[in-house]
Formats: sequence, structure tokens, C-alpha cells
Amino acid sequence: MTDSLFTPLRLRGTEIPNRVMVSPMCQYSAEDGFATEWHRVHLGSRAVGGAGVVMAEATAVSPTGRISPGDLGIWSADRADALSNTVEFVREQGAIPGIQLAHAGRKASVERPWDGGGPIPEEAGGWETLAPSANPYPHPEGDTVPTRAMTRDDLDRVTAQFRLAAERARDAGFGIAEIHLAHGYLLHEFLSPVTNDRDDEYGGSFENRARFPLEVVEAVREVWPDDQPVFARISATDWLPDRPSWDLDDSARLAPLLAEAGADLIDVSSGGIHPDQRVPESGPGYQVPYAERVNEATDAAVGAVGGITTAEQADQLIRNGRADLAVVGREHLRNPYFTLEAAHELGVDVDWPKQYERGRFR
Ligand code: FNR
Repeated sequence: MTDSLFTPLRLRGTEIPNRVMVSPMCQYSAEDGFATEWHRVHLGSRAVGGAGVVMAEATAVSPTGRISPGDLGIWSADRADALSNTVEFVREQGAIPGIQLAHAGRKASVERPWDGGGPIPEEAGGWETLAPSANPYPHPEGDTVPTRAMTRDDLDRVTAQFRLAAERARDAGFGIAEIHLAHGYLLHEFLSPVTNDRDDEYGGSFENRARFPLEVVEAVREVWPDDQPVFARISATDWLPDRPSWDLDDSARLAPLLAEAGADLIDVSSGGIHPDQRVPESGPGYQVPYAERVNEATDAAVGAVGGITTAEQADQLIRNGRADLAVVGREHLRNPYFTLEAAHELGVDVDWPKQYERGRFR
């Protein structure tokens, strides 16, 4: 039988009740890395809204791995604890709580978007950023923050930080760990020749550039429970065809290696490595063809993200076998009840929260 948006997805021992995932979206509302009431209400509402997976935003594995001072952090046990009541609430609604583990690399130390989003110099509370090579991100605002090329010790330290972060996320009750290898942040910076000029075993060839990201995936998989899935979010292309860069062929090559390293689902996004990127289109389902290509290249499950805004579109994506999971970002900012409404539109009978039962029929 053909799978549809409301066919459960089984990954390892975990059953995701439907094929909708709330895409990880930074809320810039943490205090010194600690989750606040905002996170509980934001993630909780989307679980009430019926999504199968509620993925918490990019959560930094170390203080320097934060994009902005408002990012969530999981570099200490008390920061993980601050997320555990949210996790419990999300599970009570029947959704699987996920967390995106992230390091912002050379794109760290910037203001929250509503404060301008520009780089924060060290003297104003910013911090030195880490990257494969010492080339700072060329912020469109003109300023930069110093970027240090990671030493061998730094690599080991960051791998250990990802491992520890995964242990803490596991202990806080999360059911899925998603590793952020996309959008120009640290692990993507290793993959892409745009940002990786290293001449050691972590730079140069495809195998060398993929080495550190794959080590991180393996480290997370080692501590993540066997019956729970690990997701990996990638940028399928840098959108920089005129220079040596990461492209769709590279992603198709990387996908089976990610699966071998322990990723059960590849979440296929794109872009973010350099402001010169030329994004050709951003209409409905604009990244779905990339997910399809990655799907052909690996036995792992695949998530499609980008411009998925309607029930029909999400359902077709699954029915046509283009992806296994419909990952919905901004539409979830507009409508936390996307999944419940999708069920109604598609004529599928799903349980509603009992508190909301009387609102069910229009
Ligand atoms: C994002 N996005 C994002 N991606 C990611 O991997 N980690 C993150 O923390 C964030 N943060 C974030 C915040 C906000 C406010 C937005 C709008 C987006 C990207 C997001 O997950 C998604 O991939 C894109 O928005 C494209 O999907 P939609 O919005 O077209 O469904």
C-alpha cells in the first residue's frame, strides 16, 4: 500500500505517528543557553498541533558554537534539564521530540535577527569563531569577527562536545538527535571547498573534507540509543556553480556515508555557505528535487524541506515516494495546527487533543 502523510514512519524502534516534522527554527529566546517559557510554549503548541516530530532549534554544543547570544545551548547538564519539561509535554501529545545539535563555526557571534543580525565584535561581548580555515565569514554588513583554524585538539574537543551534547539530550528524553551539517555552519564548512582550505587529512579531497563531519555523526551514534533514530541535515548544494563548491553530486556521494556512520534520515536543505550564493528558485517545494536525488543515493530515509505549505503538497510528496518525511518550517510559524488541519483536509481521522475536541468540526 502506498504511504501517505498519515502513515506512521518506523525508524529503528521508534514509531513516528505521521510524516510531518516541525523544522528546527532558532527562536533566539534562550537566556545564556537556557530554554525559557518561550520554548515550552512554541514547541508545545506545535506538538498539540499534531506534528509527528517536533524538532527543537539548532542547539549549541558549546558557548562558541552559538550563532547568537539568544541561542539554545546544551553544553551543561542544567541546560539540558531546562528542556526536559518541554520534552515531556511534547511526548504527552504523541509527538517525538527531537533536538538539532549544532555548532555555528565561522557564522557564530552575531546579533539576534531583530537586533540587526550583524557580527558582534569581541569587545562588545562577541567571541572568536572556529572554522576549518582562518577565513572569516564575509558578512554583508562588512564587519567580521576573528576566525581561528581548528587545530587537531580543537577537532577532538568539538567531537567530544557533540558526543556529550547527545548524551545530555538522550538523558533529557529526546527521541531524535539531528546533527546540523547544513547552512554554512561548522560541519558544512568542513564539507565545502569554499570554506575548507586545510592541507591536512581534514581538507583537500572529498574523503578528507567529509572526515570530520562523519566522525561527529559516529560519535553521536555511539551514545544515541539503538532504538532511536539519528537525523543529519545537509545543504545539498552551495549554489555557487562558478567556483569550487559543494554540489548535489557531492551530497549524493555523502548520503550513504552518513547512513553508514549512523544517520537514519537525511534532512535535505541547501545553501548558507557564502553570501554570494545564487538561489535559483524558492517557490513551492523548491528543495524537493534535492531530496529526491539523495533518496536515490541511499537506503536511509529522507526528509524534504523548503516551501512545503499545504496538506495536498505534503501528502503528494510522500505518496509519490519523493521523500519519507515532510519537513515544514515557516508554515508552522503561521499555523501551529498544520497537521490537524491537514488531516481534516485530507479526510483522515486523527485523534485531537481532548481539550480541543469541541473545536474540531467547522
Ligand atoms: C530557520 N531554519 C533553520 N534551519 C536549521 O537547520 N536550524 C535552525 O535552527 C533554523 N532556524 C530557523 C529559524 C527561522 C525563524 C526560520 C524561518 C528558519 C531553516 C528552516 O528550518 C527551514 O529549513 C527553512 O525555513 C525552509 O523551510 P520552510 O520554512 O520553507 O518550510
